[in-house]
Amino acid sequence: MTKPAFFQVAIDGPASAGKSTIAKILASNLHYVYVDTGAMYRAITVAAKKAGLSYEDEAGIKALLPKTSIEFKPGTPVQRVFLNGEEVTEEIRSTEITNNVSLVSSYAAVRSDMVDKQRKMTEENPVIMDGRDIGTTVLPDAQVKIFLVASVSERAERRYKENKEKGMTVDLETLKKEIEARDYKDSHREISPLTKASDAIEVDTTGVSIEEVVNTIQDLISKQQ
Ligand code: DC
Repeated sequence: MTKPAFFQVAIDGPASAGKSTIAKILASNLHYVYVDTGAMYRAITVAAKKAGLSYEDEAGIKALLPKTSIEFKPGTPVQRVFLNGEEVTEEIRSTEITNNVSLVSSYAAVRSDMVDKQRKMTEENPVIMDGRDIGTTVLPDAQVKIFLVASVSERAERRYKENKEKGMTVDLETLKKEIEARDYKDSHREISPLTKASDAIEVDTTGVSIEEVVNTIQDLISKQQ
């Protein structure tokens, strides 16, 4: 194991386990760069849509990669995401993109391009990176690896509340089914599926406040610094 030049925290886990909420707070408290890798896979899914490609068109999507730039810019309450210079912060969270991102992110060329981009982001700053394969594949030498989980019911309820705040009403049962479908696809794909790294610490957020989860992880980080 080679110690990275800058400190790395990897947070993985299934959809809506609280990864980005927790990672954002930790990054702000510790002054680390936050990298939301799910947003990157969502952005390439939007790129396919904008190019008029079918999400099934693996070769077409592969051909888009060299022409695609994805950038993050600071923003509140969420980081802003730009695809080829155009803001897609809201579009990447639409239901259509959410329901197709697992397929697009299963393509080998997409994964290797995203992993290269993600590793580059660790070269000059300490990072907190969240996703599905950070501890297993992207940053195998990260000093701290967390695997965040929560029950499906609680995750569906969190998504329900988020949607309601945005004025969207999707019933709880549908959300539960969508989350389960995404969990299944993310954990069963061929290349770097969602799985807990052998040296990751599992943190269950079911019924636990955001503050408590942040404190638990912050303690784990300070022990490694
Ligand atoms: O974290 P999220 O829900 O925004 O992620 C969207 C999708 O992107 C997720 O369903 C699978 C994919 N993803 C991935 O394959 N690998 C990652 N490191 C992050 C996300």
